[in-house]
Amino acid sequence: MVDIRPYRGDDEAALLAVWHAAMTHDRISAERFRTQVLLDPNFLPEHLPVAIVDGQVVGFVLAITRQTPLFLQGLEPERAWITAFGVHPEYQRRGIGRALFDAVFGRLRGRKTLEIAPYVPNYFVPGVDVAAYAGTIRFLERLGFQTSERAISMGADLTGFQIPPELRALEQRREQTDGLTIRRVTSADLPDLMPFIARNFGWDWYRHTRDYLLEDITGSATPICVLVARRRGEVVGYCQQRGERFGPFGVRADMRNLGIGRLLLFRCLAEMSTRQVYYAYFLWTDENAARLYAQAGFKWRREFAIMEKSLNGE
Ligand SMILES: CC(C)(COP(=O)(O)OP(=O)(O)OC[C@H]1O[C@@H](n2cnc3c(N)ncnc32)[C@H](O)[C@@H]1OP(=O)(O)O)[C@@H](O)C(=O)NCCC(=O)NCCS
Repeated sequence: MVDIRPYRGDDEAALLAVWHAAMTHDRISAERFRTQVLLDPNFLPEHLPVAIVDGQVVGFVLAITRQTPLFLQGLEPERAWITAFGVHPEYQRRGIGRALFDAVFGRLRGRKTLEIAPYVPNYFVPGVDVAAYAGTIRFLERLGFQTSERAISMGADLTGFQIPPELRALEQRREQTDGLTIRRVTSADLPDLMPFIARNFGWDWYRHTRDYLLEDITGSATPICVLVARRRGEVVGYCQQRGERFGPFGVRADMRNLGIGRLLLFRCLAEMSTRQVYYAYFLWTDENAARLYAQAGFKWRREFAIMEKSLNGE
């Protein structure tokens, strides 16, 4: 028989073994489990139920609710997230997954929506990989989840990356006609840049840039680059990268379709290859932006279904 109980400190190795066997495309190290799960201030052991059969951990679901506010986004008291889950393949199709999810639904009474898996800041993947875990999508639909959005992950080989001559010409034109400049961030940018990001792209993007800048200021071994686009002195866009991970990047809504995003993207990729970063990837874009990325050599890596269930009446 299966027993469902909250996570305990000495479950780590057994839980990660299940994680690796079930979430084959999303393996993580013990260090990442500690930093991103156990040391997340929103982590509660009772929101990480594990399934025990014959004294062994054979399944788990990692659910999150905010215990601390995300800047002005607050506690988001109506929302809850699941960022990872799995049942060991030898124990699947015995009702264990359903029993784990039922335990989570019971714990989340009072919340309105449960989303898989876009919890900021500590998500692992935006949603369920539609190719790698097709059976999981059927399982979740059985439990009342629906796909609310699709996220596309892409990657590009940067070996021999060049900025095309027509883009260099575009940059010059924009510089002459609009006073557009694209430069690496300096401390002089921060008083404009940080409020710009929070205002136009929200607190999670603000936090993301802040984390990279804090790491860079204190001397990171990983290449980090933040580029700032200004038009006649005013910040209109920015772009960031850390190691092989590109983004997020954004251009103010009224300044889009002028080529500023393309310039930021290409300049950032050139910066990466200059610093011996020969691959770039990101986890989350939509089909429109995917076309822009394709022009820079990005190829489709994975597609995720972001899934959601209403908890009203549970
Ligand atoms: C999804 C998962 C947790 C389900 O665990 P499980 O214990 O096998 O699920 P259950 O036995 O409780 O299944 C309940 C119902 O869901 C449906 N279901 C479960 N797995 C299914 C599959 N592979 N294909 C179709 N339907 C499925 C069935 O209707 C099942 O009922 P039934 O067996 O009586 O027909 C498990 O398949 C898994 O670990 N998948 C990989 C991990 C993963 O994708 N993680 C998400 C990454 S974001």
